[in-house]
Amino acid sequence: MIYLDSAASYPLLPEVKTSLIYAFDSCYANSASGHILGEAVLQKVDKVREELADMIGAYPSEIIFTSGATESNNIAFKSILLNSDHPKDKNHIIISAIEHKCIFAICEYLKGEGFEVSIVLPNKEGIIEPKSIVSLIKSSTALVSVMHVNNELGTINPISEIGEICFEHNILFHSDAAQSFGKTEIDVDDLNVDIMSFSAHKIGGPKGIGAVYIRDLRKRSLTPVIHGARQEQGVRGGTVAAPLIVGFGTAINTFPHSYLSFVDKGIRNYLLTQLTIAEIPFSINGNEKALPHMVSLTLPKTNVGILVRDNEKLFCLAQGSACSSKEIEASHVLTALGLSREEAEFTFRISFTNEITTADINLLVSAIKKAAI
Ligand SMILES: Cc1ncc(COP(=O)(O)O)c(C=O)c1O
Repeated sequence: MIYLDSAASYPLLPEVKTSLIYAFDSCYANSASGHILGEAVLQKVDKVREELADMIGAYPSEIIFTSGATESNNIAFKSILLNSDHPKDKNHIIISAIEHKCIFAICEYLKGEGFEVSIVLPNKEGIIEPKSIVSLIKSSTALVSVMHVNNELGTINPISEIGEICFEHNILFHSDAAQSFGKTEIDVDDLNVDIMSFSAHKIGGPKGIGAVYIRDLRKRSLTPVIHGARQEQGVRGGTVAAPLIVGFGTAINTFPHSYLSFVDKGIRNYLLTQLTIAEIPFSINGNEKALPHMVSLTLPKTNVGILVRDNEKLFCLAQGSACSSKEIEASHVLTALGLSREEAEFTFRISFTNEITTADINLLVSAIKKAAI
């Protein structure tokens, strides 16, 4: 099976599997327990906290472990905006039209709590332009949220510039880095972000673990999304998932190197060249500067439905986005780019693993050729 859906979830790295087996065996004590085994587990958890903080230029005290980017995004919005210290007149949120679906769900909930939500559209290349954010800012704007890398297009948003605008207007800036973490440089100061979300399973870590960075966390008054026994500085209740955190740590230390070797292979360009040589018409949704393990292609002369169905035992392919790929409707990202429902039917997202080979790409191109209309 050739797995072409790593943006939905990356296969567990062998190194992570080994560390998980070790951690489930040996890190069974509760990291909140004062005895020797509990202390040892706490040290392991805090080591990963330090490694993650180091990687993004943050302090360990600014990192909260969560169950993944969905929960991190919930904390980013709800823990701050629903806190009793949050000024009531700051009730406006700006999000981009190409965010992950969980951001829209959170905003729907917050609308019911009296918040107003503005949605900023991307340009034709799928990029959220800083000037479009400026035009939506009001005196009541409390939070802007724009994802770092889009999960369907791989496009990279100008986070640093948007963050600077937010800083100038005294607005909190959140960015969902589920797709960019481990694949591109992240420095929370350079990017001018106040809050950032991460997920382990997008970089070969286990599912069910992630993190949220909150600038100056200790100085903020935050409402927990999960109330508990004051774990994770009181922001996220529940026994800390130490074995998963150890696995996350291994992914943090392993994935970026193998991603760099993948980038050197130039696979994305190889695919585009082979499509051209095979005279298969295509257009790319997004732009050329997208992260190189991802491409959203519209193939107007290919029956994409048949391509996906007839090759389901050979390739794992995503038509639309992962969560909605079983619904035959244009994803909200493709719609925001201006694609019609028909054009969306001729579109699919490919996201490579680091182990992909040119032979795999050759098989894909010949399958596309066979599905010609
Ligand atoms: C951009 C983005 N945000 C959030 C998520 C949700 O992440 P998780 O599965 O860790 O909750 C995903 C993954 O589907 C994603 O791509």
